Amino acid sequence: MSKKTLAMLTLAAGTALGTNAALAAGELNLICSADVVICEQMKGDFEKSHDIQVNMVRLSSGETYAKVRAESRNPKTDIWWAGTGDPHLQAASEGLTEEYKSAKLDELHDWAKSQAESSGYRTVGVYAGALGWGYNTDIAAKKNLSEPKCWADLLKPELKGEIQIANPNSSGTAYTALATLVQIMGEDEAFDYLKKLNDNVSQYTKSGSAPVKAAARGETGLGIVFMHDAVSQVAEGFPVKVEAPCEGTGYEIGSMSIIKGARNMDNAKIWYDWALQPDVQSRMKDAKSFQLPSNKSAEIPKEAPRFENIKLIDYDFTTYGNPDKRKALLERWDREIGSIAN
Ligand code: G6P
Repeated sequence: MSKKTLAMLTLAAGTALGTNAALAAGELNLICSADVVICEQMKGDFEKSHDIQVNMVRLSSGETYAKVRAESRNPKTDIWWAGTGDPHLQAASEGLTEEYKSAKLDELHDWAKSQAESSGYRTVGVYAGALGWGYNTDIAAKKNLSEPKCWADLLKPELKGEIQIANPNSSGTAYTALATLVQIMGEDEAFDYLKKLNDNVSQYTKSGSAPVKAAARGETGLGIVFMHDAVSQVAEGFPVKVEAPCEGTGYEIGSMSIIKGARNMDNAKIWYDWALQPDVQSRMKDAKSFQLPSNKSAEIPKEAPRFENIKLIDYDFTTYGNPDKRKALLERWDREIGSIAN
């Protein structure tokens, strides 16, 4: 048998066995910081339209930031898609991510473009979503709870043991909540609030959306999460009501960054441009991911909580996306909240 025939047979066997990996023109090491369902959908869609194998890991935003920092001398990740914008900005300001100006930038909403401009084009907005909570209406009815509409309502003794929120060290959602409360109340008052809230918190989860998944399944009464994560549970058919806090709330600019020194730099740029396309962003709703897309031509899901209906604060991304601010707030959280957490 000639070498050529052997090579062709090997190739055919590889395809038959589904080992496309070996045949792909290249690879892309991706960290995805959104929900696992949309992460899998993005990987699958990309692989269908490109000859590139995606090695995907799902990690929360804070965990990814820590990993990217730890690997800065020898990066194992090429691209970081999704997750809250603050840690992407923190990574950008530490020079951990690569400057890249996509030709797609002009197609984006101002909030997504300004994320790129303020970071020296080391990150960019891919979606946005407001912080709030979802609560289980069956539990509320059974326990005769009043409707929790305001941050202040979450301190009521009737909610003892009924609230979950993530840990802000690992989760971008919980860091956004911490920064939001500091901006609404002032730092000392926000920590006083969090200490009181701790009486009602049964668990600080690792990932940001876990609390509302637990609420949906009746494992807890209420989860403080991005509102679109609560909407996903409603769309799954669970008895969940979504609330936007009456005092006002913060929001995320979910972001994407190329890692500095990426081994598969060209492929990272291919993903980056692709993920900003309107058709790709319009498909996020098929994974019950109901954020507001950053491309102006992408379809806004009808389920997406619209910013015009929510009392939003003027979230200060420059201050709270700063690495020193992050470190200081998280150290204080560990000292004052983490140490008394159940
Ligand atoms: C969920 C939301 C995303 C958000 C992400 C942050 O997946 O749907 O909009 O960016 O949480 O995750 P984390 O685990 O870091 O809070």
